[in-house]
Formats: sequence, structure tokens, C-alpha cells
Amino acid sequence: MSLRNFLNELEKEGNLVKIQREVNPKLEIARILKESSKVVLFENVRDSDYRIVGNVCNSRENFARALGIKKEGLLRYISDAIENSKFPRIVEKGHCQDVVESDVDLSRLPILTHNSKEMGPYITAGIFIAQDEKYGMNMSFHRASPISRDRLVARVCQRDLYKYLERSNGELDIAISIGNHPSVLLSAGISLGIEINEMEIANSLYPLNIVKCKTNDLYVPADSEIVLEGRITKEKVDEGPFVDITGTYDIVRKEPVIEVDCITHRKNPIYQALIPSFSEHKLLMGMPKEPVIYKEVNKVCNCKDVILTRGGCSWLHAIVKIEKKKSEDGKNVIDAAFRGHKSLKHLVVVDDDINIHNPEEVEWAIATRFQADRDMVIKKGKGSSLDPSADEDRTTSKLGLDATIPFNKPREKFERVRLGDEGDEE
Ligand SMILES: Cc1cc2nc3c(=O)[nH]c(=O)nc-3n(C[C@H](O)[C@H](O)[C@H](O)COP(=O)(O)O)c2cc1C
Repeated sequence: MSLRNFLNELEKEGNLVKIQREVNPKLEIARILKESSKVVLFENVRDSDYRIVGNVCNSRENFARALGIKKEGLLRYISDAIENSKFPRIVEKGHCQDVVESDVDLSRLPILTHNSKEMGPYITAGIFIAQDEKYGMNMSFHRASPISRDRLVARVCQRDLYKYLERSNGELDIAISIGNHPSVLLSAGISLGIEINEMEIANSLYPLNIVKCKTNDLYVPADSEIVLEGRITKEKVDEGPFVDITGTYDIVRKEPVIEVDCITHRKNPIYQALIPSFSEHKLLMGMPKEPVIYKEVNKVCNCKDVILTRGGCSWLHAIVKIEKKKSEDGKNVIDAAFRGHKSLKHLVVVDDDINIHNPEEVEWAIATRFQADRDMVIKKGKGSSLDPSADEDRTTSKLGLDATIPFNKPREKFERVRLGDEGDEE
């Protein structure tokens, strides 16, 4: 399914807001999206032939709706898609190539300016697609800011694409796909191992067709709204400052320049926007990590649920719910969760009677089941480059709280009395 089809469905259900008056991609659209909890389609964008959509993935409900499942089933559904991924269907023609522009002019794209103190406008929902002989295909998000008519600078953290670049001596063909169905966006956020092809996971979440690019041998989602085809070069320039998921300004770094050779797009294209540090950014970072932690925890214990909490930027804090069977389960789970998510900083493990989507219940478990000198694990290690309190080289201390019921005490002492448990009222 395409982003467009999904927007049509949202519209039919009354869940799409359309704005027909002229709006400015410089700050105004970002402000409207920040203030709205709805998916918003801007039909009249100043100085642009493109429409803009934002907030598409700003709730778990929207992901569930897009995948045709219930919200509660998301973790298992994504986990199954990871386990049973299969290569997408290659097609000869894709709507993403309805229009081919070889005279590249990035200023024609309505790239949003999100915050006044940032370096400038930048692409936030761009999915980078790369290919390597040894590692195969890769999809990942990278913010990308135009620095001239046909060049961008993009942030490439030390993850898979960085390793592709190391192997290719700093120069690599790249395709940047913008305007995708939530299944493609969700998969691009998955980081499981360099040999894992995220397009295969996308295809298992929802059937995906891919088409070959016009100017290189890469394959892109055939129904993308826009594709930029080009090359990552060895040249590096200042990148930033930009606001990141923590809601703070990321530092300025030297990052690679991309030369764009060709832009292809659908007719009447829709540019997809995503507001940094807001719900959509958080969910797209955090949700794909939850099944990875789930998988790792399941190796040591029966994992019932995982959430990366909003207050922890959907990246630094996790709650893991387990079915505790052995006294050492809590501590083993702490180790496993840190293995599953290397950027994780603070973690709470709870029993399966706790609703981990309710922060008060989690705090209640800490208040009534946890003793710091007995149930706390502190480790030193490498954390997230996004954490302003970590050292320059990402060294951080990590904290795990085992808030599960201790096995050497009577269980009844810890059971929560729910309303009505006391017996019938007179
Ligand atoms: C909205 C969004 C923006 C992101 N921006 C960047 C970025 O600018 N640079 C980067 O290296 N990773 C960024 N990420 C994180 C990676 O895309 C993500 O961790 C991905 O899973 C890494 O894929 P990989 O395992 O193939 O390296 C972003 C993620 C999201 C959801």
C-alpha cells in the first residue's frame, strides 16, 4: 500500500485534516504540525507545486490502522515480520517515477524549516537506501539539509550506512525515498544487524513493490512520493545545529556531502514532513527497538511486553514486563535489555501484573517491590550520542531497576488490591 492510499483511508474515517489556505514551509507548517495531534495535509504550499503531509506516524493507533491490526498486537506483529521477512516484489514501473527531473533543483522541494536556530531547512522523513556486495541492501533514516541546488549534507551515525561507507572508501550510490507508507518508515528505523535487509521486513509488514532507480542500480519503494538519486561523496562539511529526539540541539559535526543526479516523483507529489523530537520522531525511533529488546529478553526469560517511554525520549528509557520464574530473572533481563538496545540508559523490569503503558503503575511497582541496595544494577558503558549528559565518546552510566516481586518473601504481601477485591459491598 502507498502513503496515498493510507491517507485516503484516514480521510474516509475522518482522521485527516486538510488545509487549503496558503501556508509557509518556513516555520509555519512545523508550528501547525506541532500543535495538532491529527494527520494534516497542506494542499497549498507557498512557492511550491508539492503538497505536504505531516504527523502520519504520530500514534501507535496510526501504525496499527496502517497495518490492519489492533494496537495491542503491534509488538508481536512486528516481531513476527522480523522473523519471517521476505524479499519484496520487483516491478518494472513505479509511480515514484511518473515524473523524472534530471535538471536537479532541490529548492523546488518544500523542505521545512522547523526551528529558527537550526542550520536551515532539512529533510526529516528521508529514507536512505544503499547497496553493498557483502552486506546487501540497507534502509535507514538520515536527516539531510540542502547546501546548494543539487547537494545535501546528511548526518550518518556510526551504524550500518557508516560501515557501508567505510567499505566503499567513502563514496556510495544512494537513493533517498520520501513519502512512504508507515510499514516502510517503521522498517527503516529497525536496526538488527548489518546483513538484515529492512526492505524485506517492510514487505512482511505490508506487501511492498520495489523498482530500479533511473540513474543507478538501487531499488526503491515503487510507490514512494519522491526519490532523490545520487552519490555520497568523500567531501565533508559542517552539519547542524539541528534539534534531535531529546528536544535539545545536537552538536555541529563534519558530515558527508551528497550529490543529487536526478529527482523522480509521482504526479501531484506529496512531500512527507516529520517534526524532530515530536511524537512521530519518537515513535519511529523507539517502536522498532521494542521488538529487538523483546527478542533479546526472550532468550533469558518469558517477555510479556516492552516499551520505550516518551519521557525517556522513546530512546533512553525502557520498561520491560516479564513472567518471572526464577529469582535471578530480573537481573538477567537487565543484562539482556542493555544488549538489545545499546543506547539504553535506564531500565525498569516489572512483573506481568503491571500495565507498563501506565507510568503510575510502573512507579507503584518501584515504590512497593524495589530495594536499591538489592535490586539495582549500575554499569559503565557506551550509550547514546544523543544524550547531552554522556561523555563526548558516548561513555555513560547505565541503571537497571529490578522492580519484580522478590521470591524469598510471601507473594501476597506484594499483590495489588484492586477495587472490588475486598468482597461485595453491603
Ligand atoms: C525520524 C528519524 C530520523 C533519524 N535521523 C537519523 C540521522 O540523521 N542520522 C542517523 O545516522 N540516524 C538517524 N536515525 C536513526 C537510524 O535511521 C535508525 O537507527 C536506523 O535503524 C539505523 O539503521 P541501520 O541499523 O541500518 O544502521 C533516525 C531515525 C528516525 C526514526
